[in-house]
Amino acid sequence: SLQPVILSGGSGTRLWPLSRETYPKQFLPLTSEYTMLQETVRRLEGLDAEHPRHAMGQSAPLVICNDAHRFLVAEQMRIIGVEPAAIVLEPKGRNTAPALTLAALAATRSGEDPVMLVMPADHTIRDEPGFRSAVADAYLLAREGAVVTFGIVPSKPETGYGYLRQGRVYQVEGLVGRAHVLDGFVEKPDAETAQAYLAGGDHLWNSGIFVLKASLWLGLIERFRPDIAQAVSRAFAAATEDGDFLRLDAELFGASPSDSIDYAVMERLCAPGEESETPAVVIPLDVGWSDVGAWSALWEVRQQDAAGNVLDGDAFVHDAHNNLLLANHRMVAAIGVDDLILVETPDAVLVASKESAQDVKTVIQFLQRQQ
Ligand code: GDD
Ligand code: MG
Repeated sequence: SLQPVILSGGSGTRLWPLSRETYPKQFLPLTSEYTMLQETVRRLEGLDAEHPRHAMGQSAPLVICNDAHRFLVAEQMRIIGVEPAAIVLEPKGRNTAPALTLAALAATRSGEDPVMLVMPADHTIRDEPGFRSAVADAYLLAREGAVVTFGIVPSKPETGYGYLRQGRVYQVEGLVGRAHVLDGFVEKPDAETAQAYLAGGDHLWNSGIFVLKASLWLGLIERFRPDIAQAVSRAFAAATEDGDFLRLDAELFGASPSDSIDYAVMERLCAPGEESETPAVVIPLDVGWSDVGAWSALWEVRQQDAAGNVLDGDAFVHDAHNNLLLANHRMVAAIGVDDLILVETPDAVLVASKESAQDVKTVIQFLQRQQ
């Protein structure tokens, strides 16, 4: 069966001042009337119906998030009428490798070994049927023991992503030419390497979505990071159940080293000379994917008016082009400005040029120093 796993523990600092520690971006309605978490769940509706021959038997989602956000998650699921399989609560984030290990342990609790569809809670995808079709194919590959990644054609030498090296076509019955052997995985390369990958043409961005069996992940983390595997299973064994919530002990879970799926496992699995029984594959994804990492990315994915502006709330523009103005509490007027980001909230206002959108994290660093 297919077990959706939603990683919802990030903090989205580059979307300050809307995204805050207590209210990170996955819980905000940034791209539609639904929050990004709700969009992530709703994106799977229709998966079984559209691909009946794949016989996926989709389960309710498992959500892994920070303890502080438990009511946000529960409430947002309730609003869209989804009863999660469980909401696993991390007292403190240890990055995605421990989070996925928790998910795999929860998914195999009852003795089953589902195929996990691992999804970040804060991405947007324009072509949802296209995405579901790629997931259906990934399911078939993962059921046979592969680790499946999804690759996005890169448009710039972004250093904040992982890069997948696309090899020859991966031959399996029924899937004509869609999957490729994953020949290499490099997480967050330096600018020079990213530029070379972009020019070379055989690298794709890692979308951050993975499909693999729960037992396979548990085997991989045990092999590459036994320290994480052991700390997390010790913590999981002592977890306490409270309705839908599965709560980890702060000290036991905190004993796990912090690392990402990408560094802890994927890079090593795809390292040159690595002798592995586990096939790693990449399915190219052309579905209008964005991880909405910064305000400039939100401007890109949102519907722009004739002047290229994205306006939310009470915003007035005159002789202004390609701006993002979010004004939900006070009126904002922008005159004669282009490529500007303006985000208004009750207690903070951000003004930035679109090309400086990545630097919003310097504000967070400043605020943290002040505390
Ligand atoms: N539960 C939980 N706990 N979730 C977490 C934690 C954690 O400690 N840390 C991060 N997450 C969630 C985030 O909310 C996000 O949805 C997802 O896991 C990925 O984490 P990021 O911190 O956003 O990763 P990244 O953007 O640096 O890199 C990943 O995504 C890129 C694409 O967006 C990597 O997989 C890259 O290779 C990839 O290109
Ligand atoms: Mg991210």
